[in-house]
Amino acid sequence: ALERTFSILKPDATRRNLTGLINAKIEAAGLRIVAQKRVHMTRAQAETFYAVHKERPFFGELVEQMSAAPVVVQVLEGENAILRYREVMGATNPEKADAGTIRKEYALNMGENSVHGSDAPETAAQEIAQWFAGNEIVG
Ligand code: CMP
Repeated sequence: ALERTFSILKPDATRRNLTGLINAKIEAAGLRIVAQKRVHMTRAQAETFYAVHKERPFFGELVEQMSAAPVVVQVLEGENAILRYREVMGATNPEKADAGTIRKEYALNMGENSVHGSDAPETAAQEIAQWFAGNEIVG
């Protein structure tokens, strides 16, 4: 089915000027970028976004990294967009990511892994709603 997923091009990607190269991979995979903006997350916004991980040992570092520099937040649309984008991103740990994936090519380590993508339809809807008004998404 035609789906939407939420994506973040993370601080390690914006710092290294990789947003265009990553967008090229997204588009080559058949996903359409139907909303996109550059934002500098506050700590509070990063904490809200990653609230599901708040008991994990890496939570503090994650919030610190995500609010340390600008990111690009996006809505991607396509057939099975949630799973498709997860395939294009590759494994969370770049050492385990398949050849040709965004994380294999660009990620530095588990924390600085260049991109985030929603893991399920409910989280996609929730994440999109945190960052975009309905009229900012133009399909
Ligand atoms: P992301 O898809 O943005 O969701 C949570 C992030 O936490 C994840 O990508 C990683 O960048 C980061 N992270 C850091 N350490 C870990 C870990 N041990 N397991 C999972 N995610 C981690």
